[in-house]
Amino acid sequence: MTTANTDRIIIALDVPTKEEGLALAGRLKDARTFKVGLELFTAEGPALFRKLKALRKDVFLDLKLHDIPNTVSGAVRSAFRHGVQMMTIHTSGGREMMVQAAGTARQAASEAGRPKPLLLGVTVLTSLKGADLEAVGQPADVASQVLRLAGLAKAAGLDGVVCSPQEIEVLRREFGPELIIVTPGIRPVWAAAQDQKRIMTPAEAVAKGADYLVIGRPITGAPSPNEAFLRIVEELA
Ligand code: C5P
Repeated sequence: MTTANTDRIIIALDVPTKEEGLALAGRLKDARTFKVGLELFTAEGPALFRKLKALRKDVFLDLKLHDIPNTVSGAVRSAFRHGVQMMTIHTSGGREMMVQAAGTARQAASEAGRPKPLLLGVTVLTSLKGADLEAVGQPADVASQVLRLAGLAKAAGLDGVVCSPQEIEVLRREFGPELIIVTPGIRPVWAAAQDQKRIMTPAEAVAKGADYLVIGRPITGAPSPNEAFLRIVEELA
């Protein structure tokens, strides 16, 4: 996949209100895509998307959907109607859930004559370790579980997966160039790690095969977010 470096960086809008989110989006004039997660979406709902759209921004809706196939595909349709360009669903929701979600995304886009939203599969949450997987009856080997779920996602027609930087290489090797890989846990050398433990620089992650980098605080917490953003874009060049 060839993506312009400015479009590779997705800004995590981890703020509680639309005022803060829109102020950040306004300051980040060179950034294109903004990730809205559970906190901000629960606070502000889809009305926020129209406001981001008015700023000519794309929306990555990160709700990590996990429900029965009919419910998840309904949510995919609703998100698309509200102008979402990328969204996440849990691969552990199963093959049928993913197949239906992917089919709905394709159908909704073709009916509307707009580009299909990218559907990304969440594999194993990085907050879970081997023992946590075992406790819920899954194989304790995190890496093989990630590979298994990513394979299921690809076969079911999802566009890509979200993974930690440590898994980029093996997923790229296993599934080739078609699978879109999105990774958080990114820290430029000049930024503080904060609570991220297994971090990688933007250039390293792209060299290993990431298509999109989700970056929050190194950009949103910088004195000039747009300058921090452009500095990372330059590092990728
Ligand atoms: O501020 P920071 O760059 O750490 O933000 C990273 C974003 O990616 C946050 O929205 C965080 O919830 C998300 N994320 C993560 N690690 C994961 C999955 C998602 O940091 N494994």
